[in-house]
Amino acid sequence: MSLRRAKITAVSHYLPERRVTNQELAQTVDTSDEWIFERTGIRERRVIAKGQATSDLAAKAARQVLEKRGIDATEIDLIIVATVTPDMLFPSAACLVQMKIGAKNAWGFDLSGACSGFVYALATGSQFIRTGTHRKVLIIGADVMTSILNYEDRATCVLFGDGAGAVLLEPAEEGESGILDFVLRSDGEGGQFLYMPAGGSLNPASAETVQKNMHSVHQNGKNVFKFAVRGMCEVSQEILERNHFTAQDLKLYIPHQANLRIIRAAMEKLQLDDSRVAINIDKYANTTAATIPICLSEASESKRIIKNDLILMASFGAGFTSGSVLLRWEI
Ligand code: ACO
Repeated sequence: MSLRRAKITAVSHYLPERRVTNQELAQTVDTSDEWIFERTGIRERRVIAKGQATSDLAAKAARQVLEKRGIDATEIDLIIVATVTPDMLFPSAACLVQMKIGAKNAWGFDLSGACSGFVYALATGSQFIRTGTHRKVLIIGADVMTSILNYEDRATCVLFGDGAGAVLLEPAEEGESGILDFVLRSDGEGGQFLYMPAGGSLNPASAETVQKNMHSVHQNGKNVFKFAVRGMCEVSQEILERNHFTAQDLKLYIPHQANLRIIRAAMEKLQLDDSRVAINIDKYANTTAATIPICLSEASESKRIIKNDLILMASFGAGFTSGSVLLRWEI
């Protein structure tokens, strides 16, 4: 059996319309635009409308991908939704997206990789293409982080926003490269530093879990920061080295958008300047699984990336999880 590489054939993103600036947040949270911007690089974030949920954002991004590629939803074989904020624990967001876009012939599942979810999902989906069992795979990174924030925890609630990004994976043509390689890691020891304590089988929802704010993101910010810089640099350097590239060969480095200072630290280590790095954290904050596909979609829309460009995505998130994907842009 000859193995075919997977390539991205369309990309899009969707962000809710409502902008919440740091100033607006500072009206209800004990914080300031200055503090948030200096510590994180964030100016504003997008927030869903009442009644919207993760599958709505995901379905919008997915529909746009189909439109760009000019195909019908019934042609999709598989839908993977990377998210930590599915509409509900079950059915999966992937099943809801399948219904909403009318992808009648697709199966699908959710993938829980936190901020590395999209990178994990891209690597996972590409295997179904590579083995030849699937020809059209939708990979979506979507999160509604504002649904799991405690607005009394000012060091955490200012960091996140809502959004979705999606790509279509198909087999690469003869002579095309597509997805070249990936590095994926998990370190369960890091779970204690970034987690949501309740709502699962350990602490099922109760009046007590609600009263103790256990249904929101809990984190040790300093620890996460330290591990994020190290983890993101490691997976970036490892994948470049083993594919005999240097950072200078990259047209675009797409780091997960968690904190501008984390991104800058990684850039310094990799010796990359702004011209080669995707940064949009100022506009959207940390949208967890959605940051990387949103960056990719914006870079494609603005023609910052064109056919044959070398792109490196790198992520770090709760778990701890980390990962990188190296690819040539084939659109
Ligand atoms: N507004 C004003 N003051 C604040 C705020 C706020 N929003 N939040 C914290 N402070 C105060 C603290 O109370 C503290 O005051 P004190 O010195 O009087 O006690 C002071 O600011 C400094 O607080 P630190 O927590 O030490 O601030 P730090 O420089 O570490 O920044 C931050 C905090 C932004 C959370 C940082 O640690 C960080 O970004 N960590 C990474 C976390 C992350 O990105 N998580 C996302 C998920 S994981 C991922 O995507 C990689």
